[in-house]
Amino acid sequence: MAAMDRSAAELQLARLMDGYLTTQLLFVAAELGLADALADGPRTADDLAGQVGANPGALARVLRGLAVEGVVTEDGEGGFALTDLGALLREGPGSLRGPAVVRGGLYFRAVAGLLDAVRSGGTAFEHAYGARFFDHLDRHPADGSAFQDSMAGRAVREADHVVAAYDFAGVRRLVDVGGGRGIVLAAVLGAAPHVTAVLFDRPAVAEQARERLTATGLAERCRFEGGDFFTAVPSGADTYLLSRVLHDWDDEHAVRILTTCRRSVPDDGRLLVVDIVLPRFAREQPAAIRMDLHMLMLLGARERTAAEFELLLARAGWHLRRVVATGAADGLSVLEAKPAR
Ligand SMILES: C[S@@+](CC[C@H](N)C(=O)[O-])C[C@H]1O[C@@H](n2cnc3c(N)ncnc32)[C@H](O)[C@@H]1O
Repeated sequence: MAAMDRSAAELQLARLMDGYLTTQLLFVAAELGLADALADGPRTADDLAGQVGANPGALARVLRGLAVEGVVTEDGEGGFALTDLGALLREGPGSLRGPAVVRGGLYFRAVAGLLDAVRSGGTAFEHAYGARFFDHLDRHPADGSAFQDSMAGRAVREADHVVAAYDFAGVRRLVDVGGGRGIVLAAVLGAAPHVTAVLFDRPAVAEQARERLTATGLAERCRFEGGDFFTAVPSGADTYLLSRVLHDWDDEHAVRILTTCRRSVPDDGRLLVVDIVLPRFAREQPAAIRMDLHMLMLLGARERTAAEFELLLARAGWHLRRVVATGAADGLSVLEAKPAR
């Protein structure tokens, strides 16, 4: 490596190593609501500190750190203004505030267990917290709520991609298995007024979905059911939807979920799996690779290639018919499967 190249590489590596600081700067900004506090125009750290409950000197330095990353700009006189990037942390539909909060809080402690997990083959989250991810969320409602807020922000952005890419004209009655707060389902019901649905999730989450869809007026075409998708899922539908569910599980558990869906579907029914399809080379879709690492760290689970999905589906009696790419940067796709004959 030439001398100049080496110093550029050293700077780049130092920046990568300091990624932990960037995660925490964004976490502080998200927790304090800095983006909303800056929404009406530039302000100084002294001015902001009282409103957001912060130490003015420390806040000024955090804002300078955020200026390095392009989240805010500084005017040289102590004033800070929100950029388009920073505005993504404002509250509202599709906000990235929730993802910033879980990364800097819940996930940050978990990722400290990654080395142990890579050495031992366990799960980083369990090394760090001593409990499985979803069990922890059940026992710690604040973390459960932060996680669902994060999911909700992502799901709002993804739902539009899904309904634009896949034609729901042939669907009549749909069960959204592990439907979360119902954001994807709301987009489907909005795009396909002839569809009726059941949202199925853990009981507490199904209740949150009921509240959310009732507020949007879509609950009239939807039932909400709590339960365990390893035991049984509601029957009587022609279509089963697993959106961002299989990636939470290793192959054995994923096959069990697919099998309970297979038991409930009629022979002419269908399954829609909404998940990332991994690229051949990591650099083709960095967002897909990062999501795969989240799955490894939190759940000992994984994203999959199309060929891996095909094999997994076949193990549970499904035939993969086609993969419809949504065009999202992370490779999110709709995989359509039919009961195997
Ligand atoms: C990653 S979220 C996906 C949510 C939603 N489908 C989406 O696309 O945004 C996975 C969902 O699976 C649910 N889940 C986890 N374990 C479950 C179980 N044993 N039975 C039913 N749902 C479960 C979680 O509560 C969560 O809402």
